[in-house]
Amino acid sequence: MDYDIALEEISGIISKSKNTLEEVVGYLYNNFEKYSWIGIYIVEGNDLVLGPWSGEQATEHIRIPIGKGICGSAAKTGKTEIIVDVNSDPRYLSCFISTRSEIVVPIIKDGAIVGEIDIDSDLKDAFDLQDKQFLEKIADMLSLHI
Ligand code: SME
Repeated sequence: MDYDIALEEISGIISKSKNTLEEVVGYLYNNFEKYSWIGIYIVEGNDLVLGPWSGEQATEHIRIPIGKGICGSAAKTGKTEIIVDVNSDPRYLSCFISTRSEIVVPIIKDGAIVGEIDIDSDLKDAFDLQDKQFLEKIADMLSLHI
């Protein structure tokens, strides 16, 4: 899937949809094969709470304290995390035995972290600068809908 076309299509989804987060998650899951599991976490107090997700299995990590795991680290710093090999990162909270790499992109609204996009891949080193830039643009668009 071409990233620019995907951005246009996602922008269209966001302008029309009432279930914006669900539809964007579903779009990413259906169009990017290396995105094996996608979820959006929303900040609630000192925790991240799982919102819409797409993937083969549910995760047990439906509430993650800010500061814990890869998700909690990104929520604390406001910086995108790219983990080339999840098994080499001591912060990693395991969800699926098949996961090899992960990207977490904060969603920032008016300077505050309000949520994040979390994507696991069954491929090692699945995420590059293009994924980072692509997902950060989507996070910007979604910030208006959280
Ligand atoms: N691996 C994440 C937890 C969420 S699951 O990937 C769905 C982490 O380390 O924070």
